[in-house]
Amino acid sequence: MAQPSNRVFSGIQPTGNLHLGNYLGAIKKFVAMQHSHECIYCVVDLHAITQPFSVWGGPEKLADHTREVTAAYLASGIDPEKNIIFNQSQVVEHAELAWLFNCVARMGWLSRMTQFKEKAGKDREKASVGLFAYPTLMAADILLYRATHVPVGDDQKQHLELTRDVAAKFNNDFAEAIAQKGHGEAYFPMTEPIIEGPATRVMSLRDGSKKMSKSDPSDLSRISLTDDADAIAKKIRKAKTDPAPLPETLDGLKERPEADNLVGIYAALAECSKEDVIADYGGKEFSEFKPALAELAVEKLSAISDEMRRLSDDPASVDAVLHKGAERARAIASQTMSEVKDIIGFLR
Ligand code: TYM
Repeated sequence: MAQPSNRVFSGIQPTGNLHLGNYLGAIKKFVAMQHSHECIYCVVDLHAITQPFSVWGGPEKLADHTREVTAAYLASGIDPEKNIIFNQSQVVEHAELAWLFNCVARMGWLSRMTQFKEKAGKDREKASVGLFAYPTLMAADILLYRATHVPVGDDQKQHLELTRDVAAKFNNDFAEAIAQKGHGEAYFPMTEPIIEGPATRVMSLRDGSKKMSKSDPSDLSRISLTDDADAIAKKIRKAKTDPAPLPETLDGLKERPEADNLVGIYAALAECSKEDVIADYGGKEFSEFKPALAELAVEKLSAISDEMRRLSDDPASVDAVLHKGAERARAIASQTMSEVKDIIGFLR
């Protein structure tokens, strides 16, 4: 199969508490890219189980969380007819290619991953082997479809560099076979990360030095995609800020992480730049800026949360989207696996 020139792949873990960071850093870009690219959006359930039950909710919650991410994709405007939407565990080739990549990637590469260090914490001996090998599964997700572009938030940058390293080493180790089988000089592409815009790293509303995250014990730290208008307004009203008014220039946001974060969120929601926000609100007090931000957030997010709520009452239609998506994903994935097996030399 010829290498596609224009294919997007990205994914989100079904670990519950989908939040504004996931939306602005990832989903909003997924929606935009569907108009210019062939897009494949995955709910990465195999990744979710790399962590303890307490993080992903255990067997009782996994299906709900998987449907929640799918509903967020649909409610945000991703068209399941034009694009492929599916959950990872329905396409066995993800795990299969990940194994092959475990034999390509080096221990040293994985040992340097900051997300592994953060998630494993102090007691690394107790982390799952899956958590250590997480990035090779992620490389498999992307390269199974030979995706050329991957929209993600800033925290995934290192994983995407590793994906490129895996692709390069595979292309290099098997160069002769790749050429012999008629694939030219490289089988896997050098995938480009798409990490752009004013909200690639949305910070906690309670602490501007911490990333907004699903696992923060404080619900006030994040705006969840299922929050209603009152909850959104309350969380923005209570967001931590400093006492000074907003600065007159972008430079004035340096050393003011909370102000910088709220300006970035405003810009991403309004689809403008942080400069534009400062041009309108520079010199104004937070007592004026916060209600404007709350109004904008409610305007942009409430249609999404309403639709997510509607879809949560209709799990069968969500499951049908995933089934159909998985079938289409499998058609591409099985072709790649056949070619990769031929390259490596497996009999089949
Ligand atoms: P996950 O589930 O942690 O996050 C999903 C997406 O949301 C982005 N994100 C943020 N962006 C801005 N500010 C934040 N505070 C914030 N928090 C999360 C993440 O960068 C991500 O884009 N490893 C991935 C899932 C994955 C994947 C893939 C992604 C598995 N395979 C293949 C792309 C391609 C992850 O943990 O995402």
